[in-house]
Amino acid sequence: MRRVGSRTVADDAQAMSPPDRDRDTPWARVSQFIAEQMGLHFPHERLADLQRGLAGAAGEFGFQDPAACADWLMATPLTKAQLQVLASHLTVGETYFFRDANTFEALASRVLPALVHARRGREQRLRLWSAACASGEEAYSLAILLHQSMPDLKDWRVTILATDINPHVLRKAVSGVYGEWSFRGVPRGVKDRYFDRTSDGRYVIRSEVRTLVAFEHVNLVEDAYPSLATDTNAMDLILCRNVLMYFAPAQVGTVVTKLHHALVDGGWLVVSPSEASQALFPQFVTVNVPGVILYQKRDARSREESGAPAREMPVSWEPQAPVAHPAAPLAAASPEKPGAVEPLPYAAAVSLFEQGCYGEAADTLLASCAQHTPEPRACSLLARALANQGRLADALAWCDRWIAADKLDTAGHYLRAVILLEHGRPDEARGSLQRALYLDPNFVLAHVALGNLARSRGQDDEAKKHFANAVPLLARLHPDDRLPESDGLTAGRLTETIAALTAPGARDDAR
Ligand SMILES: C[S@@+](CC[C@H](N)C(=O)[O-])C[C@H]1O[C@@H](n2cnc3c(N)ncnc32)[C@H](O)[C@@H]1O
Repeated sequence: MRRVGSRTVADDAQAMSPPDRDRDTPWARVSQFIAEQMGLHFPHERLADLQRGLAGAAGEFGFQDPAACADWLMATPLTKAQLQVLASHLTVGETYFFRDANTFEALASRVLPALVHARRGREQRLRLWSAACASGEEAYSLAILLHQSMPDLKDWRVTILATDINPHVLRKAVSGVYGEWSFRGVPRGVKDRYFDRTSDGRYVIRSEVRTLVAFEHVNLVEDAYPSLATDTNAMDLILCRNVLMYFAPAQVGTVVTKLHHALVDGGWLVVSPSEASQALFPQFVTVNVPGVILYQKRDARSREESGAPAREMPVSWEPQAPVAHPAAPLAAASPEKPGAVEPLPYAAAVSLFEQGCYGEAADTLLASCAQHTPEPRACSLLARALANQGRLADALAWCDRWIAADKLDTAGHYLRAVILLEHGRPDEARGSLQRALYLDPNFVLAHVALGNLARSRGQDDEAKKHFANAVPLLARLHPDDRLPESDGLTAGRLTETIAALTAPGARDDAR
């Protein structure tokens, strides 16, 4: 066994029985290691949980003794797969349909009607994310809720992304098969209407609901989001419940900030009642609904317009003002002056974008573009800011303007493809991806996007060819290298994703 410091966890385990009395013990170092590697927080009071979890993981790693396993873990660079095994033992995937009736009541009576009202007759799209979805009951509950409350659901483009760190629970989520215990909070009639009985007495979700939900692996602490490339951007509603409690305070702050960035202006974050805290969500406006506290993203401009303080906002949705179209209004605003966008507004817009203030970033650039011929980089940033606000038609128009100004920039064609995909226009997206690859055959993300497109059409052989093109390109990179145009996705993470997608049986899992 490899030693860490002067004493190993195994030595320590022989010397005292859990939970440890001494905070500076090898077990406390394991706790710190887990916090650094995975963001999971095991303070002194929870060392017994940590030891129990490691006892479970030890078997999967081939150890009989959990303490020896802990020593090995701390002395070994862990792969993502090993981290996932650990996570599956250190977290609890406890969940059930319509968990916390007050929350679903608030979603049904306040949040969804407001979102639908704001979008009806315009871009009829809704983007929901169940972050830390465990075995999927929460995400399917959202899908059922939409099905129940939106008679014209088929006329909407609905995305329900459901993610978790634990591949075991995700597999169960994808299978959509549940026992009685998952229905303990379910309103009457839901089981009959949305589930079929299996031969062994369990319940399988019907395809009309299942197809609304896409399951993906996301580590909320480690992974890069929001990202157009992973479809984790421009969310209208994020449920992130009963998971923040696992994270150390600093990590909670980081995760909440990233979730804030992943929302459109006016979008909602829902946590569990026990996680709600004014201190943890300073970027959000607090909305009190009976039995629940909701958090709404309102950028500074809309807070000012409504004259509202950062708390106790009434839920009200004004349709967004249409954004200036890149062609007509600019020409009308002022005759084009030669010269590029001034650096100052551009730098300010970059800064706003990085803070997740996409609406304000777009406004800053639009004001500047009305005075000066925009540089390609300003068109690019504007297209991204608008896409992250879910304003896809405007984003596309500015992306086209970017491409017109710089036809050879592969990033423009790739961004165009991603926006078109979000817009539900896969054939045009494929054309843009092919143009990107014509310009740069080594553009990894374009190969992967083409693979995903083929896969979504059931063309698995073609998908494999595209993924196979990406693999050697990724192999040339360091696993921690961030891929261009990916918003921070690393080469290692994408390699693992491709491996999971192309593994035997992957298609059955993703059914
Ligand atoms: C108690 S369940 C919550 C399920 C559901 N959100 C609910 O409230 O019913 C917690 C989930 O968080 C997941 N989890 C823990 N750490 C995570 C991380 N860093 N990233 C993503 N998911 C994580 C666990 O795998 C587990 O499935």
